[in-house]
Amino acid sequence: MINMDWKKNIKGVIFDLDGVIVDTAKFHYKAWKALADKLGIDFSEEQNENLKGMSRMDSLNYILSLGELQNMLEDDKRKLAASKNLYYLELIEELDESDILPGTMNWIQECKQNGIKISLGSASKNARRILDGLNLTDHFDAIIDGTNTTETKPHPQVFLLAAKALNVEPSECVVIEDAYKGLEAARKGGFYSIGIGDPEILKIADINLTSLADESMDVLEQL
Ligand code: BG6
Ligand code: MG
Repeated sequence: MINMDWKKNIKGVIFDLDGVIVDTAKFHYKAWKALADKLGIDFSEEQNENLKGMSRMDSLNYILSLGELQNMLEDDKRKLAASKNLYYLELIEELDESDILPGTMNWIQECKQNGIKISLGSASKNARRILDGLNLTDHFDAIIDGTNTTETKPHPQVFLLAAKALNVEPSECVVIEDAYKGLEAARKGGFYSIGIGDPEILKIADINLTSLADESMDVLEQL
C-alpha cells in the first residue's frame, strides 16, 4: 500500500447520514415492521440490514416482495410508503445533538481545520429535517439527498452531485458509508471510501472502521 499525503490530496469528505452520523436504522426498522405486520408479512431485523442505503420505494418493494405483494398498484404503494414515513417521522422527532454518533464532530472539525469541504450524500428524503434536529445543517458546505437524485445507490449519482457541489473531483474525495451499496457507489464514482461497520461485509472499502470514534483523520494516510 502506498501511503498518501492526504492533507495535500483530499479536498472533500462526503458523509452518508443514516448509520454514519446518526443511528436511524432502528427507527426505519420499527416503522417498516409496523407496516409489514399490518400486511401480514414477516420481516426480520436481518432482512432490514438489506435496506441500508436503499431508497424508500425500493425498500417498500423489497418488503412487499417478501409477501409476494410486489405487483400492487403504484398508487397503493405510494400510500403505504407515505404512511410508513409518517410513523418514521414521529419516531425521529426527538432526535437531538446527543444522538450524533461518536467521532462525527471530531471528523467535521478536523475537515474544517484542514480546509477540507464537507457534503452530505444520503438517499434519505428526510435528511435536512434530521440534520436540523441534530443541529448540524450549518456545518455542511453542501447537502445532497434523496430529494436531489433520480438514481439510487449503488449508482454513484448522489456522490457525484456532492463532489460537483463542493467543486472537487471524485479522486480528491473520501466517501464515508455504512452500507455496502453506498461503498459500491463510491467505488463506481471513483471516490476513496471508508466503511463504517463490519469489515467482513464492507471489505470493498479502502479503509474499514467500526466507528468514526476509532480514529482521527490521520487514518487517511492509509489510502
Ligand atoms: C437511507 C437509509 O439513508 O435512506 C435507508 O439507509 C432508507 O434505510 C433511505 O430507506 C431512504 O430514507 P427516507 O428517509 O427517504 O425514507
Ligand atoms: Mg447509511
